[in-house]
Amino acid sequence: MVIEAERLTRRFKDVEAVKELSLAVNAGEIFGLVGPDGAGKSTTIRLLSAIMDPSSGRAAVAGYDTVNQPEEIKRRIGYMAQRFNLYGDLTVWENLNFFADVFEVTGQERRQQIERLLGFARLSKFRDRRAMHLSGGMQKKLALACTLIHTPEIIFLDEPTTGVDPLSRREFWDILTDLHMQGITLVISTPYMDEAERCSRVGLMYKGRLVVCDTPEQIKRMTEGELVAIWPSQPRLARTILEGLAGVKEIQTYGEQLRLFADDADDLIRRVPEALSAHGITLQRISRTQPRMEEAFISLIRKQKG
Ligand SMILES: Nc1ncnc2c1ncn2[C@@H]1O[C@H](COP(=O)(O)OP(=O)(O)O)[C@@H](O)[C@H]1O
Ligand SMILES: [Mg+2]
Repeated sequence: MVIEAERLTRRFKDVEAVKELSLAVNAGEIFGLVGPDGAGKSTTIRLLSAIMDPSSGRAAVAGYDTVNQPEEIKRRIGYMAQRFNLYGDLTVWENLNFFADVFEVTGQERRQQIERLLGFARLSKFRDRRAMHLSGGMQKKLALACTLIHTPEIIFLDEPTTGVDPLSRREFWDILTDLHMQGITLVISTPYMDEAERCSRVGLMYKGRLVVCDTPEQIKRMTEGELVAIWPSQPRLARTILEGLAGVKEIQTYGEQLRLFADDADDLIRRVPEALSAHGITLQRISRTQPRMEEAFISLIRKQKG
């Protein structure tokens, strides 16, 4: 275990941002933290990065205690905050040098590391551009490069791709995959389900609690019942009608598609077309399907609420 947390709790006055969180992350994993705004993701990452002390409970990173040995931890980890601080007036190259100063990376090692990271982050051509004149996606890559300046074994990334265009997100993930291949342990928080799918394990947080923690495959299997996808001619009307149909447990809408949770998918596939055609609604398609990550999370959170 490179990261271990035991009943980690953090209070801010009357808010319990993280409640009794227990967790173990193996070396080389890409561990994803997902959950809605305010779930406690950033606080968890700060606690694990030894930036903030817990109110109770404990955590160890790389074998060191976050409260008693924070300096040992900081030397071995990289932490990219949700709102990281680059120096807008400084160039790409100057920013990297600034962080090299902070982490005391010097001499020949510094020069080589900066060249390597510029290439790695696909920023070599932009070395003399001021950070404030980079695109959002390039700023994130520069922040990641700065986070890697001291060659950390473990990196914590707090929503590194939020608000970044899809192409840059993909490129950012290519870089994360490279890091994963090098054996680096990654802990990343994200609101994006496609990113959660790319993690080796995912922890779903809700109101400070870790609701589930498992592989994406296992989490998808936790959705109860079977699933039928339909593409009706009038999705809204169809939804209203099907909400009253026996055997339909839950309906989720994705654009033109309705996804019906049922105890018996085959039974629904027989009855749904008829129920809808009685109201003049036709079906382009109807098929049994697998739950997606997003559906699994929505179901699990609804269960928590209920
Ligand atoms: N420094 C702080 N002071 C007071 N409340 C905070 C502080 N940081 C976080 N919180 C509160 O703790 C809860 C969890 O926040 P956070 O960890 O930022 O969640 P997330 O990153 O999942 O959006 C929220 O209710 C937030 O308002
Ligand atoms: Mg956050």
